[in-house]
Amino acid sequence: APRTAIVSALHDELASVLALMPDEHRQTVAGREFWVGHLHGQDVVAVLSGIGKVAAATTATLLIQRFGVDRMVFTGVAGGLGAGVNVGDVVLARQFLQHDMDASPLFPRHEVPGYGRARFGADAALTDALELACDRMLRTLPQQLGAETVAVFGLHTPRLHQGLLISGDRFVATTLESQTLQRDLPEALAVEMEGAAFAQVCHDFGVPLAVVRTISDRADDAAHVDFPRFLREVASRYSGALMDTL
Ligand code: ADE
Repeated sequence: APRTAIVSALHDELASVLALMPDEHRQTVAGREFWVGHLHGQDVVAVLSGIGKVAAATTATLLIQRFGVDRMVFTGVAGGLGAGVNVGDVVLARQFLQHDMDASPLFPRHEVPGYGRARFGADAALTDALELACDRMLRTLPQQLGAETVAVFGLHTPRLHQGLLISGDRFVATTLESQTLQRDLPEALAVEMEGAAFAQVCHDFGVPLAVVRTISDRADDAAHVDFPRFLREVASRYSGALMDTL
């Protein structure tokens, strides 16, 4: 049976997964807490990666080399960039790019030196499996959250988007920076700080990866207010519901 890693950057993003792991055994390696156990009967290692691309790369490597995982799912929140990618929507990554990678003029903008490319792919089969879970979760979420939370966050008809997810070591919190990203990378659906780093490490080791992100903010001048509020009130309930089809 495959061993699956379930990863988030922050505790609120992973809380509902940990609540569903009855027999988890906690281990600390390199300052990270790894919970080894079962979820819906499956062999699982849950871990908090920490924030940013370096923390992500270290975590991904440990999961593969120390914990022997066969596949990885990253779940968390992201800032919406694409038109119509709104708070409460879900973005399923099909491709990843590091928006702060720039070795120009030696290499084209965003290309990762040594790889001959800027974009890395998500695993199609694992992502397809998550897509089913996302559809079901989005249908049942309003009941799970309750009418008040739905109204406060405007989560009446959350949508699923699939495509390019971009990552960099910046919390994008100004409308100006968000517009610059949208201009340079018009296909980008959302921005976060870990996914593309996981994708590069998983590519190196040949380990399948899927990333699902709920939109917590629009990566604009209000992001610093929207992000923590969403994390606290909503994000903590999404992840557990997503993992039951793996
Ligand atoms: N994760 C959630 N919101 C984000 C933002 N605005 N920038 C970077 N990462 C994020």
